[in-house]
Amino acid sequence: MQAVILVGGLGTRLRPLTINSPKPMLSLLNRPFIEYIVTLLKEHDIDDIILSTGYLPDTFNRLVDDFARLGAKLTCVTEEIPLGTCGAVKNIEHLIDDTFVVFNGDILTNLNLSFLIDYHRHKQALATLALTSVDDPTSYGLVPLNSNGHIKEFLEKPNWDEVTTDLINAGTYILEPEVLQYAPAGENFSFERGLFPIMLEKGLPLYGFPSGAYWLDIGSPEKYLRAHYDILDGKMQAIVEGEEIKPRIWVGAGLEVADSANLFAPILIGKNCKISDNVSITGPTSIGDNCTIGEGVRIDGSVIMEDCHLGGSSVIRNSVLGRGIKIGRKVHIEENAVLGDNMKVGDDNWLKKGIRIWPETEVLPGTIRF
Ligand code: GDD
Ligand code: MG
Repeated sequence: MQAVILVGGLGTRLRPLTINSPKPMLSLLNRPFIEYIVTLLKEHDIDDIILSTGYLPDTFNRLVDDFARLGAKLTCVTEEIPLGTCGAVKNIEHLIDDTFVVFNGDILTNLNLSFLIDYHRHKQALATLALTSVDDPTSYGLVPLNSNGHIKEFLEKPNWDEVTTDLINAGTYILEPEVLQYAPAGENFSFERGLFPIMLEKGLPLYGFPSGAYWLDIGSPEKYLRAHYDILDGKMQAIVEGEEIKPRIWVGAGLEVADSANLFAPILIGKNCKISDNVSITGPTSIGDNCTIGEGVRIDGSVIMEDCHLGGSSVIRNSVLGRGIKIGRKVHIEENAVLGDNMKVGDDNWLKKGIRIWPETEVLPGTIRF
């Protein structure tokens, strides 16, 4: 079976992490995020995968070998201009030959795709949407259902006064190719505000499949951290790469840890890292390959990507550090701070309260304290 993964978005809510990397290529526990989607697809015998790219398309090229290792064939098609979620699929219509899957490229889930496909066939639907329940539906597509599972209406990003259910579009669809006849070619057109409302207007069979499976859209720094926490905590089942040296502590080859360092699970530490004396790392925390953690550093509930160097006595708490960052001594990075790739932070700075700093910048010693 074929699947189209939509990966053309700019990932604006995840900036600065998405300045150099599209959202689906950000690492999650030291693997490109999209690998989790491909692993799920493959588990359900969906192995012919088309990526609809737009933003930073070349970054996806290195996936060809990774996908082959996972047993999937990869085709990348790049849009000249953003065509919207449905326009992106219309753009590759000529590659589709039968019932197929569409997946938003920022969804972490263990949804049972085989059940979803069986349900779609049983209902003889033209389109079936996976649905999930969330506390705040206003950031998503609201999907109220009739008692037979037929979708009543589709309201993208509703106001609170329009919210009549907690069921939302989970960003995974089973489609019959013929629905694409209702999408204009070469124009920006979305499923959410275009195709689905048109299908409802025409009375075509559009079904919803509520699922209680784990589900998360990783599209904001808080949710990107949450994805790490949930896999490390075991709330979302996924293979964590590395050797499990103690329960829920995974490490890569070439790790050097001082005897006086304390590691509190769950933690992933990548390859070739060096952890100095009196360091304390509290999970859920993920550290990328080739990082050095200076003496007395405390890390708690954070994500640190590859090639980062942390100076002595610094504190990193509930925050995300991009790739190749150099942190001086006595630096505090806390409360959902997000630092872009290759930043430098001099000694004695306090970066807190959701601060976001762009890649390649330098914070001189002692300049930020709030
Ligand atoms: N190729 C291509 N072209 N891909 C696109 C484009 C485009 O023009 N626009 C967005 N995408 C991709 C993004 O890269 C992402 O993987 C996916 O489509 C969804 O875009 P988001 O920007 O993440 O949308 P959202 O999260 O606000 O809302 C969507 O997902 C929710 C579930 O997470 C909608 O489908 C909602 O209805 C849904 O509830
Ligand atoms: Mg999203």
